[in-house]
Amino acid sequence: MPALVRSGIYCRTIAPGPDSPSNQLHTLFSPIAVRLPTRFMPPTNGMMRSHRLTVLLAIVLLACFSLFYLRPSSIPAEPIPEPQANQPAPEPIRHPQLHPGQTSYPPEKIHPISNLIGTAQQQFDHVYSRQSKTLADAVQEYKRRYKMHPPPHFDKWFQFAQSKGVQMIDEFDSVYHNLLPFWAVKPQTIRERAREALGFDNAMLGLLIRDGKVSLTEGGGDGRKWQREATAGMMKDFVKYLPDMDLVFNVHDEPRVVIPGEDLQRLVRTATDQAIPASFQKNSPTNSWSPRAANINKGDRFDEVRTTRFNRFAHQPTWTNSRISCPVDSPARSLDEDAPDNEDSYALGEMGFIYNTTAFSDICLSPSLRYTYGFFDRPNAFDVVHDLFPVFSQSKISSFQDILYPSPWYWVQKVPYEKSKDYSWDAKTDRMYWRGSTTGGFSRAGGWRRQHRQQFVDNVNSLTPSKVLERQQDNSWVSKEITPDVYRDNFDVKFTMIGQCDPDDCHAQQEYFEVVKAAGQQDAWAHKYLVDVDGNAFSGRFYAFLLSNSFVYKIALFREWHEEWLKPWLHYVPLGLKGSEYTETMRYFTKEEEGKKAASQIATSGQQWAQKVLRNEDLEVWFFRLLLEYGRLVDDNREKLGFSL
Ligand SMILES: *[C@@H]1O[C@H](CO)[C@@H](O)[C@H](O)[C@H]1NC(C)=O
Repeated sequence: MPALVRSGIYCRTIAPGPDSPSNQLHTLFSPIAVRLPTRFMPPTNGMMRSHRLTVLLAIVLLACFSLFYLRPSSIPAEPIPEPQANQPAPEPIRHPQLHPGQTSYPPEKIHPISNLIGTAQQQFDHVYSRQSKTLADAVQEYKRRYKMHPPPHFDKWFQFAQSKGVQMIDEFDSVYHNLLPFWAVKPQTIRERAREALGFDNAMLGLLIRDGKVSLTEGGGDGRKWQREATAGMMKDFVKYLPDMDLVFNVHDEPRVVIPGEDLQRLVRTATDQAIPASFQKNSPTNSWSPRAANINKGDRFDEVRTTRFNRFAHQPTWTNSRISCPVDSPARSLDEDAPDNEDSYALGEMGFIYNTTAFSDICLSPSLRYTYGFFDRPNAFDVVHDLFPVFSQSKISSFQDILYPSPWYWVQKVPYEKSKDYSWDAKTDRMYWRGSTTGGFSRAGGWRRQHRQQFVDNVNSLTPSKVLERQQDNSWVSKEITPDVYRDNFDVKFTMIGQCDPDDCHAQQEYFEVVKAAGQQDAWAHKYLVDVDGNAFSGRFYAFLLSNSFVYKIALFREWHEEWLKPWLHYVPLGLKGSEYTETMRYFTKEEEGKKAASQIATSGQQWAQKVLRNEDLEVWFFRLLLEYGRLVDDNREKLGFSL
């Protein structure tokens, strides 16, 4: 029984999961990434179902509706002035191109990293300085951005946000983009799909709100008790303002909803051209919810349904399914197998520093991900639907339409930061440090060679020459090739566990990689440069790393709710998957005077900013706003609802 043998090995390698107190290290270093596949989970008591939510917003989406977004609105609303900004909007970074016939890059006058840091600071100052101070400003800014009225109870939300000291009170564009396609689907249809998702064993966690209270949370089994409690806990202070509704949260780490590009475009077009303008035309919107709709569950149970529209493809390649929402003219939709990535859209200069993390994480621009990323090679779980279902997820791949929400994993501090175990910056080593396991995908028939964590560890420890920049007499920077040994001592990146693999692949990896003993959190704090790498989904260590006195690198395709509030190159430094910039980045931060200064500043600003914007209160405020918007979407009267002064 090969399948059972496999499962046995798999379970043994992976267990104990993140919840096991007996495995602190494991919890620390492979949080979300490791867990038993659902089919090995104990059955949930009787009511088979789970829940989910998902997330959404793909770049594709962005690309297609920026067209609409930029075009003059047809709404005859009063002109809304641009807010006053104290700083001019900075120029975007331009990618230096190699012209035809040119064989080497011209010298850089300023080090590209210094350039990236400077621009990030300017852009951040620009956004931060123009945040609304009053409810009236916030309402105006909302209408300017989204061409609609804020949702009912926006004043309650604003008071809540202000009383908690929220910093980025206007920056919620991802909520808008996540929910936009739903404006083109009838409220009744969205509610019906939520009910359908909860009525079958779909690996979802359901949460019902009735009369201003959470009347039921169910799904996910014992292993997800923490998630049920945290999800309800996160809304405790504002649930009284929410309408009666059924919410569907994803129990898998992997996203769940991906719809064909043509459908997505139609949905977005209908939303921006028709549904939203029609709603915005109403001059005195109703600031209250409609009575409870008929087609939601009774408040104390989920109605069972007989079939599911979710298809399960765990442990199979998923690229074809994942790219279906990409625009037909994007590289990911190439009809051949060898379309090049659009690297210029995110990678700067010869080393390829990541200057645009949105474009970097847009899978539509990078068909090579099919062969270099675990989720596309063979994810641990893949249980997807191709209709627009309302599923809330903690992180997602750009092409998916799951609705992102602040992760309860962070809210309950599954990976805590213990200040007393940390060291001062100067006491830390000058090393890039990472420990973890081979999550990210399931490995069979040698597939681990195509998965991102393995590639990351391999790139860092590679024996091939790499390039660095060298300062010239005239202070410009020119690249040169070096052997990897020169900066070897700046890197300490190793696996502590091999898992999610067939026996042959587990053995092959044991032989190929140097697998070291599991490490504790205090070991991480001994190093200046920590790396946060996606596992099966978002890694879950990011906040603890930011809060520490160390500097944080992030390698991520998975998108999370906090994207607009954290700034790459200011609060952390993004790295690519190919590794061409790793050596120079570490060399710059550890050997150059300007680099050393910048590194300590990034460590400090990341820490101070995380203390201000990643508190539990911040997650709650974001969730509150998301659920007001969602509440309006599922209200039969939604075109007439809104808040106005
Ligand atoms: C980053 O990339 C996204 C997606 O491709 C694009 O919409 C955005 O304008 C880019 N930002 C900058 C500053 O270039």
